[in-house]
Amino acid sequence: MYIVLEGIDGAGKSTQTELLNNWLMEKGYTTKKIVEPTTSDIGKVIRKELLNPESTNDVNQQRLTLLFAADRLTLKEEILDAEKSKELIIISDRSFYSSICYQNNSSVDKNWIYEVNLHTPRPDLIILLDLDVDEAIIRCDKEEVFENIQFLEKTRKNYLDLLKTEKNIVVVDANDSLEIVQEKIRKVIQEKLGL
Ligand code: TYD
Repeated sequence: MYIVLEGIDGAGKSTQTELLNNWLMEKGYTTKKIVEPTTSDIGKVIRKELLNPESTNDVNQQRLTLLFAADRLTLKEEILDAEKSKELIIISDRSFYSSICYQNNSSVDKNWIYEVNLHTPRPDLIILLDLDVDEAIIRCDKEEVFENIQFLEKTRKNYLDLLKTEKNIVVVDANDSLEIVQEKIRKVIQEKLGL
């Protein structure tokens, strides 16, 4: 099973991933937590790029699309193993849907993002943590290039647009407290996956 938490910067994915992981372990499941970008060599290049103020420009978004797809493929084998197994649950902080929502600008055609991600795994369930951008900006450290109001407004809209086209996606309002958001996530997992 491959469960993904998605959302804009500041939405609380990493904390909620951690809490979810603990809960599933307490229930006796074998879990593995993964994060994109990864710690692979490609992930390290990406992390550097994310500090470059030029990274939102057209050509750099095209480069990032390819880098994120390549980085994601380093996780493919372990995700496929988990998808085959009933016991192992992978909980991921981000997935290919981050590329769809963050790299989607006028110079990067959405179909091309799907195309270069053709061989990257698709989640069994996506939990979209939806947060007002004003609150997101307060919560994130604003060091990385995408952490600005205008970019995150567009990205949030791209995430909400996914609801029109994708199955297996559930929105959770992330404006509430950590505990309440986690409760809501657990409820979704119980209802959708029967865990
Ligand atoms: P983030 O989850 O915010 O990591 P951290 O909290 O450690 O900084 O991810 C880093 C940034 O990378 C974030 O702004 C979103 C961006 N990103 C993309 O633009 N495309 C992608 O495909 C992925 C996985 C992330």
